[in-house]
Amino acid sequence: MRSVFSIAVAGLSLTSSLVSAAPVAKRDGFPGGAVFPLADGFPTPNTDQLNTIQKQAFGTLPNGPPPATISTDGLTNLKLIALNEVFEVAFFTELVYNLTNKLPGYDLDYAHDFVTDTLKAVIAQEELHALNANGALAHFNAAPIQPCKYNFPVSKFQDAISLAATFTDVVLGTLQDVNQIFAKNGDDGLVRGVSSVIGQEGEQEGFYHVLQNKRPNTLPFLTTSVRDFAFTAIQSFTIPGSCPNINTIPLKTFQPLNILSTPTATTGQLKFSFQASKAGTTDYANKLSLVYINQQNLPVVEKLQDVVVSGDVVTFDALFPYDQFEMNGLTIAAVVNGAGPFANADAVAQAAVFGPGLIEI
Ligand SMILES: *[C@@H]1O[C@H](CO)[C@@H](O)[C@H](O)[C@H]1NC(C)=O
Repeated sequence: MRSVFSIAVAGLSLTSSLVSAAPVAKRDGFPGGAVFPLADGFPTPNTDQLNTIQKQAFGTLPNGPPPATISTDGLTNLKLIALNEVFEVAFFTELVYNLTNKLPGYDLDYAHDFVTDTLKAVIAQEELHALNANGALAHFNAAPIQPCKYNFPVSKFQDAISLAATFTDVVLGTLQDVNQIFAKNGDDGLVRGVSSVIGQEGEQEGFYHVLQNKRPNTLPFLTTSVRDFAFTAIQSFTIPGSCPNINTIPLKTFQPLNILSTPTATTGQLKFSFQASKAGTTDYANKLSLVYINQQNLPVVEKLQDVVVSGDVVTFDALFPYDQFEMNGLTIAAVVNGAGPFANADAVAQAAVFGPGLIEI
């Protein structure tokens, strides 16, 4: 660990990062892009290939049967988990390719082998997460979720790790929602397995923090999220029309919310933009609000200030009340109908039009 931490201190300067759910500029595929099925047989490995994946993951798929029945909402949980885990497999496969081939921006000097080895285990572990969810879907006679084509807006290691930390944080929030929904629908037989994955993703998150010269332990209570926000965020990395059966996942996709400022650990104004014609109103300042979800706190509602409309783009400022709420780690921003108050993240998603804007402090 020591060597990794010192390279973090020496070379890595990102203290906050930000990703919006806006569609990214699309590039042509590059040779290391994940093409499914992968060389190890994923997403449909045979018995020998599965054994190899389990060795590389340093553990096995759960070998007990899933519960006998599942709710409809519980099935949607499994589909979203599969969609997300397959996306993560694609991301880390590409990242390990870039590291293994030491592409420009991906040569880590003396920490190189340790980081690459760890990420190879991450690929296999994410593969098992995906196979577990897709296996449960098959058990319940639902179609397994198939891989899409992806495009990641990064071309150097630091940006890739910052992106990994951000989407892993979204997963850590969304699996809370998944467990809540399993619990509400009597799908208690699936809660223990998902909880084991929350811890596993938390271990990864700590590693990605150290690689960015951040504390591994972010917050006392991690930020929550809801399924629709994760579903929207994942689609910002898929090439439109390339997901064979994403249409079998009955979740909402929001319009993009762009974060134009770089948030820091201070109270101040942040600048955002969205597409005017998607707002459903032209009275932006009075009919819409900007909401932040952070930790396990009540959603924070802020007014849209200094609204400027230019063509089809609405730009505005909103207060980011960092000091009042210690808004570290992940904050999810959304533009919603009305002024709340919103009792929880579900109520925010119910009213949301644009989002999620993903802020990391
Ligand atoms: C890998 O490198 C290529 C070429 O620079 C880049 O386009 C791609 O986004 C990178 N992927 C990751 C996950 O770092």
